[in-house]
Amino acid sequence: MPEQTIFPSREALMAGAAARLEDALRQAIAARGAGCVALSGGTTPAPAYEKLAAEALDWPRVKFALVDERFVAPDHEASNEGLLRRTLAPALTAGAELVAMYSPAMDLEAAAQAADARYAPLRIDLALLGMGGDGHIASWFPGSAGVAAALDPASKRSVLAVRAPQAYGTPERLTLSLAAVARAGRVLLMITGEEKRAALASALAHGGRPAAALFAACEPEVLWAG
Ligand code: 6PG
Repeated sequence: MPEQTIFPSREALMAGAAARLEDALRQAIAARGAGCVALSGGTTPAPAYEKLAAEALDWPRVKFALVDERFVAPDHEASNEGLLRRTLAPALTAGAELVAMYSPAMDLEAAAQAADARYAPLRIDLALLGMGGDGHIASWFPGSAGVAAALDPASKRSVLAVRAPQAYGTPERLTLSLAAVARAGRVLLMITGEEKRAALASALAHGGRPAAALFAACEPEVLWAG
């Protein structure tokens, strides 16, 4: 098991994640005048995004990207873009940009190519990943159609389409490739609860995908609270 940063509570975990996002953005703005972080959806990270958006950053210099997206419109309850638009509202109102993965009126593959064109030029300073109970990270669902291409460390694509019947919201997903995540300046894997910690340890011990592929491609910092 790689080194973990253990927080005494979920509240402290959210504050820790928000502080790392803020720090990455401030450093990028100081170094090159702009910063970009890629954010996961799901049920865990919303409080971290709300904390971040309450900070006084130079928001017009900031881009928010998605780690992955459920292939639904932003007003759908399962949309990760919708989650980011709600939780990051103060930052977006102050001029930050959200780079969508979803495109309306396109099929999944065409939308993946359109998102790939938008994401390829992004320089991602930090990618915040989560992990589902089934071990998926981003939308790299074990055994799903498209996941092998998404986990190819030599992939030229930044965004790909995945079809995973077991995925929440819709089986159709758009996701950053492992290669795009590994190119990020910094990678965080934020998990909560004993079950996910044990699942991660077991995947890494037995070479289980996608966790083992992620840790072979980069050095994520694991952030955990019970
Ligand atoms: C998604 C996510 C996904 C998420 C995990 C954990 O859209 O499904 O980006 O990779 O990080 O499923 O989700 P929870 O926080 O809900 O456990």
